[in-house]
Amino acid sequence: MAEDLIIATGSKAEQYQSLIPQVKALMENEPDLVANLANIAAALKAQFGWFWAGFYIVRENELVVGPFQGPVACTRIRRGRGVCGASWEKAQTIIVPDVEKFPGHIACSSLSRSEIVVPVIRNNKVVGVLDADSEAYNQFDTTDQQYLEKIVELIHW
Ligand code: SME
Repeated sequence: MAEDLIIATGSKAEQYQSLIPQVKALMENEPDLVANLANIAAALKAQFGWFWAGFYIVRENELVVGPFQGPVACTRIRRGRGVCGASWEKAQTIIVPDVEKFPGHIACSSLSRSEIVVPVIRNNKVVGVLDADSEAYNQFDTTDQQYLEKIVELIHW
């Protein structure tokens, strides 16, 4: 597909419904994981304007930062540490409405106020996480969870 993203307006669900087929098309016939993660991070950032959107990849006993859009971030996160490490350990999506109230939250930036982390699960194992951060409190809800979980399922990981 042409590398132009159509940015939708409307409700959060409408924005995801416009984005998902475009993300699918971007990954069609492209087996390279880094390329696909990079384009997903860019598409999410362009559509939603979040502070940070990207991936951490499981490498042995740590998460290592992967393709992302936004300010430089913590490079390595241990299992169980921070929101990303907790999502990895629990193999569950975690929504944090106020990062200061999440025990052990890792502040890569003091500007981040709320966060969602979605695990990518393959063969019953977490292989990475999708992380999104916002400068607004309460940015993420179960609509984001539903659609972001759909997006990570589409990745040929
Ligand atoms: N806040 C995350 C760390 C990653 S950055 O926000 C990009 C955490 O607590 O796991």
